Amino acid sequence: MSDDNPTARALALQAQACAGLGSAFSGALLASAAEDVAAGGPTADVMAPWAGRDVRAQIADAVPLRLLGALHDLALSGDAPALTALYPTADSAGDAAGAWGVARGLIAGQATRIGAFLGHEPQTNETRRSVALLPGFLTVAAETGLPIRAFEIAASAGLNSLWDRYHYDLGAAGQWGDVGSRVRLDTDWRGGPPPLGADVRVIERGACDRAPIDVRDPVARRRLKAYIWADQPERLARLDAAVEAVLAADASVDKADAATWPEQHAAPRDGAVTVLFHSVFWQYMPADSQAALTAAIGRLGQRASAAGPFAWLRMEPPPDNLSLMDIRLTLWPTGEERLLGRCHPHAAWVEWLG
Ligand SMILES: C[S@@+](CC[C@H](N)C(=O)[O-])C[C@H]1O[C@@H](n2cnc3c(N)ncnc32)[C@H](O)[C@@H]1O
Repeated sequence: MSDDNPTARALALQAQACAGLGSAFSGALLASAAEDVAAGGPTADVMAPWAGRDVRAQIADAVPLRLLGALHDLALSGDAPALTALYPTADSAGDAAGAWGVARGLIAGQATRIGAFLGHEPQTNETRRSVALLPGFLTVAAETGLPIRAFEIAASAGLNSLWDRYHYDLGAAGQWGDVGSRVRLDTDWRGGPPPLGADVRVIERGACDRAPIDVRDPVARRRLKAYIWADQPERLARLDAAVEAVLAADASVDKADAATWPEQHAAPRDGAVTVLFHSVFWQYMPADSQAALTAAIGRLGQRASAAGPFAWLRMEPPPDNLSLMDIRLTLWPTGEERLLGRCHPHAAWVEWLG
């Protein structure tokens, strides 16, 4: 692959990453797209807005994942049955070579539609991260004995805001939650059990995101799904079930910046423990916003009391390593901070230290 074509190079790098992360279908599609760009085919035309940017900038802007999402969106839409027929299903791995042949024709013939999709910033909302947050909520409930007011920042579509309505299978450590829930979350749990017997009652909840996804909008809902790799049926099924739960709960996510929303909505109140939580978003905030949010959380902590504690629960990568996440809890009025555990970025495993 020629190094002097940054778009082709970025697509090829993402192809390798997808294949390495278990999505052979996505890897094969992107490898073909990389060749098409290098050869000046229709993919080069549709990716032209990024042509002047270097590989690093294109990866940072998730340009290859935009293309992958655009094709998956077309396959999901039903508007391109020949493409849909070659995409993976729960029972089949799909036909990547055949799908690319159809996709290349669609990229040429539906350049406006594809181009419009490419303009969206990719966004995923990974419900399984609730498996990593749950033990934090259990710890808060066990230690305070109070009902919970739960406020999520950077909530995307708000799927994890309903964490208490799902069912959890922590292997030998035990199970928790609503056995009737269609959202069934499991993980490779490492370590002793969290306090599964804690009395958990969520009496109030709220959520914000700077670009919330309204799952009531079928186009936005399909776009959210399109960014999941097509040969990952478990993630796709989990998303469908969680979206149903959000629709049934009629839950919504405020459009607001995480640096300002908590002080307006999540101040501690007597008679409950107020929990501000987030997962996998800290790195997207500029340093001044990170500092502003940290200061705001500190001020909220200062307003906490034994009758109205305040907790900051988060699943975020340590500064030097994006391949795993720390699960941290700070609980006021003492303001004691603890590393509760570590986990895989999608919570495929959780190592409990609590
Ligand atoms: C990788 S997604 C994670 C979404 C969700 N927390 C999860 O774990 O599935 C990052 C989210 O952070 C949001 N975001 C980034 N910066 C933000 C900010 N300053 N204020 C609010 N939301 C923000 C994005 O819109 C996006 O929904």
